[in-house]
Amino acid sequence: MHADIGRILISREQIDRRVGELAGEIGRLYADSEKGLFIVCVLSGAIIFVSDLIRQLPMKMRVGLLAVSSYPGKTTQAQPAHVLQSFDLDVTGLDVLVIDDILDTGGTLRVVMDRLAAMRPASLRSCVLLRKSGKARGGLEADLVGFDIEDVFVVGYGLDYDGLYRNLPVIAVLKPELYG
Ligand code: XMP
Repeated sequence: MHADIGRILISREQIDRRVGELAGEIGRLYADSEKGLFIVCVLSGAIIFVSDLIRQLPMKMRVGLLAVSSYPGKTTQAQPAHVLQSFDLDVTGLDVLVIDDILDTGGTLRVVMDRLAAMRPASLRSCVLLRKSGKARGGLEADLVGFDIEDVFVVGYGLDYDGLYRNLPVIAVLKPELYG
């Protein structure tokens, strides 16, 4: 699998350090939360980020899951996003933090935030591990961002190409010949 990597964009050490910093920021943001924090993990790309992040959070919290349509198969072109399914998502009156892997055009986060806002949470914020620079997102921004990256298709640490490479411990760009 490592032979498929063209170049590493973000190393394991950089990810570990930044996830720790984000956990600290989230801990401070929600230190006074009365109802407790409710994390919404956007499937499937955010699973590794969420599992690392929440183990560093000091406060009581709950997790719910939201499956959103993603890139089908061997394509790196975004399709219009829609919610496929939700699990344990009763967030009315709670402090909600949505966690996604990457903010690209913002279509996915917009759909997720609209869906959750309709449930009337006490507060609603978002955190993404990666944000692609130079993209018009129609005013939509994440509240917390792990890393700003160039506009390339990345895999690893939860992100996939055709379902593969989620288990890479780094964030990487594949060798160009592997793209369909
Ligand atoms: P939008 O355009 O909706 O994109 O902000 C966010 C969703 O698109 C997927 N995405 C990627 N997946 N490598 C991936 O593996 C990438 O470089 C990439 N860019 C966007 C991802 O599902 C994300 O939630």
